[in-house]
Amino acid sequence: MTAKPLSILPDPVLRQVASPVATVTDAVRQLMDDMVDTMREEHGLGLAAPQIGLSTRVIVMDCSDEDDSDPVIWKMANPEIIDASDDMASMEEGCLSIPGYRGEVTRPARVTVRYLDADGVQQEMQATGLLAACVQHEIDHLNGRLFIDYLSRVKRDMIIRKMTKEARFEREE
Ligand code: NI
Repeated sequence: MTAKPLSILPDPVLRQVASPVATVTDAVRQLMDDMVDTMREEHGLGLAAPQIGLSTRVIVMDCSDEDDSDPVIWKMANPEIIDASDDMASMEEGCLSIPGYRGEVTRPARVTVRYLDADGVQQEMQATGLLAACVQHEIDHLNGRLFIDYLSRVKRDMIIRKMTKEARFEREE
């Protein structure tokens, strides 16, 4: 298992619609494990494959508390929201691909997600609270959508402008 370098805004891979996984093969399981390693190394709650440069529909999550003795690690291929509550919840979100910025995002408070697990078996998960926000954030990544898209246009454009300038500066160094 290996942690991979992160794709950072404005990397175009973050804006692509990712392709579905045809079958959960050993290569997909390897990808899931690498993503868990990357998420842990970067202290993230979740990670989507485009964030390590792969435009494929795989996400991983670990939304357990730090003192949780038995943390639940979610590994999902082709996750899809099949039901969402009418009531909404707001949470402050950040993203490993947009380091240094956070913003309040409003999403459905409860969702049901259908996905393939690491064995390729179809499963359904019901999520509320932090996990609900996290799984929606990660699925958004597979559709080229980022949390900054939920912020005001002024704030979003400011973040994109600053990060684009930073990326240019780093290339020139
Ligand atoms: Ni993110």
